[in-house]
Amino acid sequence: MGYKLFFIESICNAPNIIETNIMECKVTNPDYTNMEKEDAVKDFLKRIEHYRLFYEQLDEEKETKYSFMKIYDAGRRVVVHKQEGHIESRIAYYLMNIHITPRSIYLTRHGESVFNQLGRIGGDSDLSYRGRQYANALAKFIAEQNITNLRVWTSCMKRTIQTASGIDAPQERWKALNEIDAGICEGLMYEEIQEQYPEEFAARDQNKYSYRYPRGESYEDVVVRLESVIMELERQENVLVVGHQAVLRCVLAYFLDKPGVELPYLKVPLHTIIKLTPQAYGCKVEFFKIPIDCVDTHRSKPVDCSIGRNPQDALVTVPSHY
Ligand code: G3H
Repeated sequence: MGYKLFFIESICNAPNIIETNIMECKVTNPDYTNMEKEDAVKDFLKRIEHYRLFYEQLDEEKETKYSFMKIYDAGRRVVVHKQEGHIESRIAYYLMNIHITPRSIYLTRHGESVFNQLGRIGGDSDLSYRGRQYANALAKFIAEQNITNLRVWTSCMKRTIQTASGIDAPQERWKALNEIDAGICEGLMYEEIQEQYPEEFAARDQNKYSYRYPRGESYEDVVVRLESVIMELERQENVLVVGHQAVLRCVLAYFLDKPGVELPYLKVPLHTIIKLTPQAYGCKVEFFKIPIDCVDTHRSKPVDCSIGRNPQDALVTVPSHY
């Protein structure tokens, strides 16, 4: 078919990693239904011994024509052989940055802002009184979690910086975490957008993921600008991201493997902390709702172009790194 192959070999001889892997992923394998955990572990170790008799590693001397990458002990050492082209280098870069150290990523939107209360989108307004209450509650919640080496990332907007201000941990500002740029619609209410720009409003409902505000951004654009943040999140351990609705939808979609068609409608309510804990396959998700009143900024997809019924939905493709 003319495809270029890039082989990836994961070689693991570290007993602690093997044991954790068996406990987390193998004992729940259908092969071990109705078997005691300890027996399943013993059986799987025997299986590894059996594979060892026949297994051949990729060899840099013998496989001179093939491109491949060998990852030892989940990233302790990496060999990249005959890597060619953009996609292979992106794959190698990605795999060199991920890790299996247990950790959690905490996501929260800023506290309720003055613009949220007015039903206006975008802008750079301050927190409302209730938003400031949330900032205090968030600092308390985070302190009570006793999270080791926590790092806090915010956008460069006032409302996220104010929300994180009471948290006792090193903080970094990311322009890439700023809210989606609504272009000519910045500062308007949805009703005003519908009235002043009816065609734009309808077009966004038709294909929210790809729709780009005039002089602004689409969700697809936000996904692209978040790549550096996501890569750094993969490299880090415990991180709290204080962000915005659209931006956190993109981060959540990455970790929960949601397609582009669902991404712009994911629920990321105000005054709620979302805890993501990466596991062997997928991510555990927990929601912590802080009991401080706030407006609901979620706008569902209108019924007449609901998910799955819009022919354009089938055309939405998520960029390769998603
Ligand atoms: O525009 C600001 C919002 O946070 C993004 O919400 O994409 O659902 O309109 P929306």
